[in-house]
Amino acid sequence: MKYQMLWLALVLTIAAEANAAAKQGKNTTITALIVFGDSIMDTGNNNNLPTLLKCNFPPYGKDFPGGSTTGRFSDGRVPSDLIAEKLGLAKTLPAYMNPNLKPEDLLNGVTFASGGTGYDPLTAQIMSVISVWDQLTYFKEYISKMKKHFGEEKAKDILENSIFLVVSSSNDLAHTYLARAHRYDRTSYANFLADSAVKFVRELHKLGARKIGVFSAVPVGCVPLQTTVYGGLLTRGCNQPLNNMAKQFNSRLSPALDSLDKELDGVILYIDVYDTLYDMIQHPKKYGFEVADRGCCGKGTLAMSYLCNSLTPFTCSNSSAYIFWDSYHPTERAYQVIVDNLLDKYLSKVYDV
Ligand SMILES: *[C@@H]1O[C@H](CO)[C@@H](O)[C@H](O)[C@H]1NC(C)=O
Ligand SMILES: *[C@@H]1O[C@H](CO)[C@@H](O)[C@H](O)[C@H]1NC(C)=O
Repeated sequence: MKYQMLWLALVLTIAAEANAAAKQGKNTTITALIVFGDSIMDTGNNNNLPTLLKCNFPPYGKDFPGGSTTGRFSDGRVPSDLIAEKLGLAKTLPAYMNPNLKPEDLLNGVTFASGGTGYDPLTAQIMSVISVWDQLTYFKEYISKMKKHFGEEKAKDILENSIFLVVSSSNDLAHTYLARAHRYDRTSYANFLADSAVKFVRELHKLGARKIGVFSAVPVGCVPLQTTVYGGLLTRGCNQPLNNMAKQFNSRLSPALDSLDKELDGVILYIDVYDTLYDMIQHPKKYGFEVADRGCCGKGTLAMSYLCNSLTPFTCSNSSAYIFWDSYHPTERAYQVIVDNLLDKYLSKVYDV
């Protein structure tokens, strides 16, 4: 009897130790990629919305596999797709609002991102698109669907072992601020946005997400649209006050996410994309690009969404030589450079949590 007890205790100890060891060296399989945000991550959620901000017509998608237009704001794939591919999940990430999706299409993850949206609810309202807050509501629905079709365990696995990404702020900074300027100065508006991003992460964590990455603001003052509109006021080809707002957002967001990471379980990461994109725009040749100051579509200055269409003259033949596809959005190749340069560094951090 005594031996049996001893034996049992030994087995339990070994099992516990093995489990602890497994936990320490744990190399989690990433179950899915779940994305929230704006046009950078949208793979077609705006297609059926009553908004002008869509692009499910040529020449959008001209470099997409099969050359089809999907509602992606680029010539080809966007970062949601490229990151899903990097994680070994799928070559493209479906848009949650696509009415043709079957439950099993949602298993590798999904994007709720909606072009034109922002952290400021006013941004989505002005553009008639889906606010990031409403994207959370759709995410709740997604989890219910997972439970219904694949069981509680699967839903739990998705919450615990998926990577959640949030990419927003460009539209708030570049457009909505102008409508908010009576209430905020540049600094306080950038701070308001960063605080909203932190609030968003808290909400997402409350819903069960555990590996969350939030992208920094990009140098939105350097996109060709800004170059065209603010032509005379530029420093090194960029609208500097707008870039300073983006930097203010980043400098508030980064330490706030660091403390959130310490406070909450799981991992919460600030993902800096500002410096890479800025450097690409200032030194395109270094990254194998030829053109950085205008988009490939149309004359590339004021062309975006409906202003970039099949009747627009002069769409370039080789989008890979351009950083920008239209006057606002990077090309697939530029996105690929950013994803390759940066995400390896960050993604390795989430595997082991
Ligand atoms: C875990 O797996 C990822 C992807 O295969 C790899 O990049 C990473 O180095 C691994 N980490 C450890 C600690 O083995
Ligand atoms: C397109 O541009 C890229 C980058 O400059 C270059 O490497 C590639 O050879 C070009 N392709 C064609 C077909 O000209």
